[in-house]
Amino acid sequence: MNQANRSINAVTGKPMDRVDGRQKVTGMAQYSAEYPQQNLAYAVLIDSKIARGSIKTIDTSAAEKAPGVLAILTHANAPKLKALPTFTAGGSAAENRTPLSDNNIYHAGQYIGVVVADTFERATHAAELVRVEYAQQPPLIEMERLRNQAVIPKGKVGQKPADTLRGNLEQGLAQAQVRVDETYTTPTEHHNPMEPHATTAVWEGDRLTVYDATQNNFGTRKTLAAAFGIPEANVRVICKFIGGAFGCKGTMWSHVPLAVLAARYVRRPVKLVLTRPEMFTGTGYRAQTEQQVILAAALDGKLTALAHTGISDTCEEAIGEFVEPFTRATPMMYACPNMRLSQRVVRLNKGQPTFMRAPGEASGVYALESAFDELAYQLKLDPIELRLRNHADTDPDTNLPWSSKSLKECYQLGAEKFGWSRRNPEPRSMRDGRYLVGMGMANATYPVIHFPASAVAKIMQDGRVVVQSGTHEMGTGTATALAPIIADALGITIGRVRFELGDTELPRAPVSGGSATISSVGTAVAGATQAIRAKVLEIARQDSRSPLYNIPDTEVVAENGQLFVKSDRAKSETYESILKRNNLKVVEASFDAKFDSKDKKHSMHSFGAHFAQVLVDPDLGQIRVSRFVGAFGAGQIMNLKTARSQMIGGITMGIGMALMEETITDSRSGHIVNPNLGEYHVPVNADIPAIEAYFVEENDPYINSIGAKGVGEIGIVGVAAAIANAVYHATGKRIRDLPITLDKLI
Ligand code: MOS
Repeated sequence: MNQANRSINAVTGKPMDRVDGRQKVTGMAQYSAEYPQQNLAYAVLIDSKIARGSIKTIDTSAAEKAPGVLAILTHANAPKLKALPTFTAGGSAAENRTPLSDNNIYHAGQYIGVVVADTFERATHAAELVRVEYAQQPPLIEMERLRNQAVIPKGKVGQKPADTLRGNLEQGLAQAQVRVDETYTTPTEHHNPMEPHATTAVWEGDRLTVYDATQNNFGTRKTLAAAFGIPEANVRVICKFIGGAFGCKGTMWSHVPLAVLAARYVRRPVKLVLTRPEMFTGTGYRAQTEQQVILAAALDGKLTALAHTGISDTCEEAIGEFVEPFTRATPMMYACPNMRLSQRVVRLNKGQPTFMRAPGEASGVYALESAFDELAYQLKLDPIELRLRNHADTDPDTNLPWSSKSLKECYQLGAEKFGWSRRNPEPRSMRDGRYLVGMGMANATYPVIHFPASAVAKIMQDGRVVVQSGTHEMGTGTATALAPIIADALGITIGRVRFELGDTELPRAPVSGGSATISSVGTAVAGATQAIRAKVLEIARQDSRSPLYNIPDTEVVAENGQLFVKSDRAKSETYESILKRNNLKVVEASFDAKFDSKDKKHSMHSFGAHFAQVLVDPDLGQIRVSRFVGAFGAGQIMNLKTARSQMIGGITMGIGMALMEETITDSRSGHIVNPNLGEYHVPVNADIPAIEAYFVEENDPYINSIGAKGVGEIGIVGVAAAIANAVYHATGKRIRDLPITLDKLI
């Protein structure tokens, strides 16, 4: 809602507690594996022990005789599924390959069968009795050894070709007086939400209900309908709460159709929950990258040329091709006339990589912003000053003006809160007791993304308001963040608002990815809510008994649960009274937010600045992040508390990326050696300092009717660079290989 229409007691942008907080902390919130079913059977997957080759024989005879076993499906006997439509085909399947379609093996942990039994323990036991004989080939695992086999991706990189050129790179390089030319590497990382993927499939005739842990209810519905050859209307997907996702639940992975297939086969509801090790093999990962960044600049720091090139890993062609678009933020970040971007992929016998919180930006901005820090040291310029000298006043990629950009304000606010002016730029110059102190900063950015979304709003005779859209609660606080839009459009308190989500019976909502839920669903929610307000007002305007009789819309303001005449506050009426007098139980309206008429004359991005302080033990190389400040311009914030939580979460994940997270694959067997939370290190409370996250006020009239850019992903972008830069400042050692573990420092 724009400022002019906002009532004095508006709640938008204020910090508010989660509407479902009590449900979550009391265990009342139901997750996908927690819907009780009559006669429930349990499915357990059989995972391939080899990473490349094929199955010669698969002997299920002992397993079939095990107690409680209902069925064992393998490529040899499973009913064939129809093709699963992927994103490009309008569906949401992550992989091109239909599970159990043949005996080929493309990565370790690939599902080669599913065992269904009357208990989970019996299914697990039977799965261990299945004997598989493989024809094994040496797997391709190490990207760094297969660099020379890198190929041009078949598809786009983000939305761009694999190679792009701006201006004349050679000329730009020749003009430069200083140059940074370095290679930065990032490892494979896994999402590791607390809630594993889980699917409960219930068939009634040819109607299917699926309780699935998904960021994409409608994509799952469409893909399952296609796979099982039934109309979409016969499929209902329910997902009320997600225990974290970060992108791995944005597409549909193979266990989902396998659970559904198993349920149809045994004619009972079937529950399938992935094990933690399976969360490392079957549901995607952040691809490994090796990135070369060349920054060429004049002595005043102005860039004359920029090249960002490199490779990332992807899966075998039979599975698909996900390309980590690590050059995505590079062309819009800085003003630079000459630029070359190029990406290649190396196909490995690992599962398919996928979207993981800020796919592209998280890895790419680490490299770019590390290189910028290196350039600042070469030029003996303050890193903020260097960035200001290369600030892009318009989008250098599209040549469009920004719809809004507050990066300079973010530098200012972040630097002030952090105390950047206390930094002595000399490496190893600052100490706290025996610890070396380092301060580093980096840019953050993320595009504003919209997908079509619908919502319906209903106001009841008792004044309660229910708004519905089949979107997702992945831990982000969707309902809490949408409630203020509803409350303020109607001038009512949050307590009267209920937002319902997580069901394909509700109006269509897009994948909750790309930080696009508030921008997209929020626009639909605002539209539907404003439409019920207009409808109720219209009823009053037509009604000679109403104090609002004949009063034009523009003369009415909604506040304190009533509609007032602006010029004469004595004239007012409550929604309840209007509905009651007209004998209306409910007034409802729907809204489809399409965004096809969206302003294309502006480039739309969020920006931010991260400031990290680290303490490094000079003898042991141990690193602690001791302070962290992030400042962001992300348009209208709906709920300051959940928005800050998003940034704190993103920064926390960025600290993990910088210092801990790394999936290690054994190059001989192709097995992941740390597929668990004991050996794959994510930050815990003791690793995380007090994180401060601030938003600068941004009033962007171009992006959408609610002025919101979305805050899911920008929080992580640039964090690893800010920390790497702080580590350099503390120690004088530049680590260009994530994660920055102590062995790399000593
Ligand atoms: Mo996100 S990686 O767009 O779910």
